[in-house]
Amino acid sequence: LTAMAVAVAMATNTLPAISAAEPGRVLTEDGGQPVGDNQNSRTAGPRGSVLLDNFHLIQKLSRFDRERIPERVVHARGVGAHGEFVSYGDYSQHTRAKLFGAKGKRTPVFVRFSTVIHPGGSPESLRDPRGFAVKFYTEDGNWDLVGNNLPVFFIRDAMKFPDMVHSLKPSPVTNQQDPNRFFDFFSHVPESTQMLTFVYSDQGTPANLRQMDGFGVHAFKWVNADGQVTYVKFNWRSMQGHKRHTAKEAAEATAMNHSNHTEDLYQAIGKGEYPSWELGVQMLKPEQLDGFDFDPLDATKVWIDVPELKVGKMTLNRTPGNFFEATEQAAFSPGMIVPGIEPSEDRLLQGRLFSYADTQRYRIGVNYLMLPINRPVVDVVNNSQHGAMNFGETKSDVNYEPSVSVNVHADPAAKYSQANLVGSVEQQRIAKTLNFQQAGELYRSFSKSEQANLISNLAGDMKKVRDKQVRQRMVGFFYQADADYGSRLAEALGDDLGEVKALVSATKDVEPTMWKRALNAAT
Ligand code: HEM
Repeated sequence: LTAMAVAVAMATNTLPAISAAEPGRVLTEDGGQPVGDNQNSRTAGPRGSVLLDNFHLIQKLSRFDRERIPERVVHARGVGAHGEFVSYGDYSQHTRAKLFGAKGKRTPVFVRFSTVIHPGGSPESLRDPRGFAVKFYTEDGNWDLVGNNLPVFFIRDAMKFPDMVHSLKPSPVTNQQDPNRFFDFFSHVPESTQMLTFVYSDQGTPANLRQMDGFGVHAFKWVNADGQVTYVKFNWRSMQGHKRHTAKEAAEATAMNHSNHTEDLYQAIGKGEYPSWELGVQMLKPEQLDGFDFDPLDATKVWIDVPELKVGKMTLNRTPGNFFEATEQAAFSPGMIVPGIEPSEDRLLQGRLFSYADTQRYRIGVNYLMLPINRPVVDVVNNSQHGAMNFGETKSDVNYEPSVSVNVHADPAAKYSQANLVGSVEQQRIAKTLNFQQAGELYRSFSKSEQANLISNLAGDMKKVRDKQVRQRMVGFFYQADADYGSRLAEALGDDLGEVKALVSATKDVEPTMWKRALNAAT
């Protein structure tokens, strides 16, 4: 130890730091002032109380007291990485979005993977859909493709989202997740049958994040320079293949390491084994939308048999320098779109357009888009102003538009596309519900062992449901998807299949919220 290091140690009542021999950098307060002593509080003599004028201590404690922001209301547990997207070609005949405008065009991205229901810090291997959110930093501003690892969703209308999430989150009374509650909810939501089949298959427990696909889920619109609209679905295809855990393997992984998916992603990127995904796009012309026995704008459905064109490749090659600053403060929103990409009329998506920016203004603050991870790579030119934590540098006093002195104006080329409307304002469910068919096709596409795992995973949770009617309604859904599927589940639960069939015929064409009345009439 140098004499200098020993002197510092004696003066500050601490062991000398390893680097004390180096000149190092002086510690500062948040205002940049040098800190004189970072180990001992200022006291009134050796025995006296700690003094309030020890500004550094007060700043240190109060700043620490405010280190947490609210966690995301869903998708709280996540991991992020930077990378780039490279377009395979020029797709300007379909979309004027510049990131798809030329072969080899490179666009930086930030991706955040997440679980949905479980809180921040919860084990990453638990059964859940996985969030797959991609932020493209394009030359026309940011485009966020905020998807999941499963191609459909539980519900088709945003009106149901808060109820669904309440039922899946821990009980407000016991603070435990409870299948009695979420199956009670889902037993009124027949359109959830396909998504539940996905979630309770081994696809609900991916072995890692690199070996799973991602899906935009909703229909979006691509719009070209002539204003022509193509309805599209975006599907990320993993170039590492697929690897899923059985329930047993997922439980073992959870017992070993709560952060195994983060560790896997960081290690792969650290070793230079950069994971990549190809972006597949399915396309439908507006006049094709009515040609299906389901509604292509219903987020509970996949577009079976619609070809998929691979339009580019995304590679993740850098982990963030700081988890909180990037991954935690990242704010993705389906409303972040660029000219050439628009939301479809999917009513689940429409609700999301509002919800994300709304929660982010609360979760991070009104100027959240100024944060480095969220700000676009292009200049932001608008008259939004002030608000908490504003670190802009607006010099002009023309904070309005139009003005004779400052030529800032809208660009008509960036206008939304036009659509003709007929009909009345209404509150009705969609006409073509087709709640069970795709779930049945999915079940039949599974191998024997995948089917067995699905039945065992579902029965494991459904056995905990005390209300027989809830269990039977759920089995009735799976039975309507596929008779073998429902029968095997009934057997695994020890439920009477005859009673399930009677329930199915009593409630078949009845709106789920009216089921009690239908059942009373039938008995
Ligand atoms: C996160 C709402 C459906 C994927 C969130 C957040 C909210 C929300 C409030 C937290 C955002 C934040 O704090 O930054 C909703 C509503 C939905 C809906 C109201 C339906 C009406 C969906 C669907 C998908 C999805 C269908 C997938 C296609 C995600 C993802 C995140 C997220 C990936 C995490 C984004 C991140 O990593 O920061 N959602 N959501 N959500 N949602 Fe949804």
